[in-house]
Amino acid sequence: MNNVLLGVSGGIAAYKAVDLARRLVQRGFQVKVVMSENATRLVGPATFRAVTSNPVALSLFAEGGAPMEHISLAREADVVVVAPATANIIAKMAHGLADDLLSTTLLATRAPVLVAPAMNREMWSHPATIHNLEILKERGVVVVGPESGPLACGEEGEGRMSDPEAIAEAVLHVLGMGSLLSGVQVLVTAGGTREPIDPVRFIGNRSSGKMGYALAATAARMGAKVCLVSGPSALACPGGVDRVLVETAEEMRREVVSRAPSSRVVVMAAAVADFMPAEAVGEKIKRAGRDKLTLELVRTPDILAELGATKKDEQVLVGFAAETGDLVEKARAKMREKKVDMMVANDVSSPGSGFDSDYNRALLLFAGGREVQLDLMPKTDLAARIWEEVSSLLEGKAGR
Ligand code: PMT
Repeated sequence: MNNVLLGVSGGIAAYKAVDLARRLVQRGFQVKVVMSENATRLVGPATFRAVTSNPVALSLFAEGGAPMEHISLAREADVVVVAPATANIIAKMAHGLADDLLSTTLLATRAPVLVAPAMNREMWSHPATIHNLEILKERGVVVVGPESGPLACGEEGEGRMSDPEAIAEAVLHVLGMGSLLSGVQVLVTAGGTREPIDPVRFIGNRSSGKMGYALAATAARMGAKVCLVSGPSALACPGGVDRVLVETAEEMRREVVSRAPSSRVVVMAAAVADFMPAEAVGEKIKRAGRDKLTLELVRTPDILAELGATKKDEQVLVGFAAETGDLVEKARAKMREKKVDMMVANDVSSPGSGFDSDYNRALLLFAGGREVQLDLMPKTDLAARIWEEVSSLLEGKAGR
């Protein structure tokens, strides 16, 4: 999970930083907030604490605060965002002044820094501010905004802090996650289904949900609106993801088929049972008096095949193929049968990969015939790679 350190300095736009924090949390980031003393006069730290679920850092000398907090905050951040950035904090950053927790943290960090200036238009156009920003830009600091419009001081002009959504997007770009998935509705399935035999037993499989949850979390971080339809899993719902829990293949079918028409992308990573007991017995089947038990199984609905048959042109449909031999041939056949744009084929018999592992080795097959063999990698990395390919497919469809 990427860590964002949000520095809030004392401008009226500090209230908009709450919305920014919320948007970053929704994208699955771990957000920590450092406020300058002036910022605390404008917005209460408790608001940021509630939105980020993290304590807010306020002072170098806070009672009970971690020793050398500026160093730990600076080191654990993958990106630092200063929003709003007043003329004062911009000047301090430009000249390396460090006289409070926010400014010392900014001096101590080696993470990429992004500032969203907000101030009166005269302050914005003052040669000192212009010069200070030039220094920061030369140093690689990313500057987002400001915008023109009505200012808090009652005047009109340049100096309004950029929209929190634009700043959140810029954070993604800084982290190399800027994406075509931004605002796109995606549907991901994960985990295995359970088909009841009786009230206490079921037919299940070894899926942990790790692959599907990694896909959902990564898409959320890339700005997509994610719905995750999940079979039973021990995993927590990723931040910014809307999760629907199901048990059986039939329940999964109902939730997926009703949502698919409004989703631009559907990724079926779930291990859906292929067979279910012909009838689920209402009472626990007794052992007494039996030497053996024969269960009659019937086919479950093939959700992916149904989606493939009803798919709209602009939609991207991704399936997974879990095989234990003849991976390429079987995955190619499944791809044709289920009419997907992309099939992620994985050999679930290979050790250290597939079911319940944190790693996976996949072969990506595309409807156009392209095939890409990937190395064994963490499921989180495979998820990022899959979304990269999905983004290209979306781009291709938009260009038609
Ligand atoms: O959850 P993890 O522990 O992280 O493991 C990840 C995984 C091994 C489950 C995952 O990488 C994977 O391979 N998922 C697909 C498992 C599967 O059911 O494969 P399949 O080859 O049997 O099915 C092909 C495709 O049809 C899949 O997209 C599946 O979701 C879909 N399907 C299958 C049966 C069915 N009745 N309806 C379906 O929609």
